[in-house]
Amino acid sequence: MPSKRTSARRGSIRRIGISTGGGDAPGLNAVIRAVALSAHNHGWEAVGIRDGYNGIFLPDQYPDGGLIPLTPERVRGITHLGGTIIGTTNAGNPLKYPVRQRDGRLVEVDRCDELVKGLAAASIDAVVAVGGDGSLTIANALAKKGVRIVGVPKTIDNDLSRTVVTFGFDTAVSFATECIDRLHSTAASHRRVMVVEVMGRYAGWIALNAGVSSTADVILIPEIPYDLGTVVEKIQERYARGHSFAIVVVAEGAKPRGGRRAVVEKKAGQAERLGGAGARLAADIAKGTGRDTRVVVLGHLLRGGTPTTFDRLISLRFGAAAVRALAAGRSGVMVALDPPTVRYVPLVEAAHRMKLVPVDCDTVRTARELGICMGD
Ligand code: F6P
Repeated sequence: MPSKRTSARRGSIRRIGISTGGGDAPGLNAVIRAVALSAHNHGWEAVGIRDGYNGIFLPDQYPDGGLIPLTPERVRGITHLGGTIIGTTNAGNPLKYPVRQRDGRLVEVDRCDELVKGLAAASIDAVVAVGGDGSLTIANALAKKGVRIVGVPKTIDNDLSRTVVTFGFDTAVSFATECIDRLHSTAASHRRVMVVEVMGRYAGWIALNAGVSSTADVILIPEIPYDLGTVVEKIQERYARGHSFAIVVVAEGAKPRGGRRAVVEKKAGQAERLGGAGARLAADIAKGTGRDTRVVVLGHLLRGGTPTTFDRLISLRFGAAAVRALAAGRSGVMVALDPPTVRYVPLVEAAHRMKLVPVDCDTVRTARELGICMGD
């Protein structure tokens, strides 16, 4: 049972903490600004917890301490900036915290109770947790332990359920589309096949939306295991019809039928790291078609840069709505976009359900109707 002394559980709010966890996404700073200014308007102090929750676990690691005071001055001029001014980590999950053993092994340890105590010791009365499925699962665990907490959905992959969209996705898709547009001329000039790998660990939203928008010839997503023969045939057919190049967009999590995702490594306390899907496919296409083939990995470029207007606006709306929820006494919920408004859904519903691309959705059907090969 949680201790009754925890200040994040009851009484009026005087100080709130904001945590950004997992991979960064354009719009994080806009959320931070909205949370800080809205909190200030309620007369609350806002602090940023450094690097997920490491600011609570390892405060001595930071020369200025583990918390960053988020005064109105400190959050000025950050709405348009990529990244997160309070830092993030995908290696500090309190439910599976990697702890080095005497024999050198890293073992995953549940440090949630310690975190609850740490929040109380830092006089943090409520938390806004910004993140993807991992961070929202942590938020849900903290809510169950009595911490007053509201989640904000972030991920460029757009794979979170119960919200129409996550912030960061629009920026990633827009930039991927621009990059693929730019590849058309060099592909045509050299009569090449260009394979473009984009992020999308389990869900192919970025590959699908950017691929359709940039008129790719082949789009491969994790939800539809691909048949190499079909891909090769599509490319050959295109050249036979007189085209001088082909563009293939592949999500990093795409896999050949009967094959596996391209995993680079899996460390304790972290999700598996993917890489190599594009290179593997390019080699197979070159072999199968005999055509000059190049691969471009957009990877982390999709996580950087200025958020689009759409992402800025929903990030600001999400941040303000999170504080509004806390002020109204709500906890254990995630802010969700449900146009034209935002609403609140139980964290438990958002955290454990991944939003994959439905293989018969309108955008996949559109792709097929436009003659784009989906690999099957
Ligand atoms: O934000 C999610 C994501 O973009 C995944 O698509 C990708 O696999 C992962 O982040 C990579 O993150 P990192 O290299 O920071 O571990």
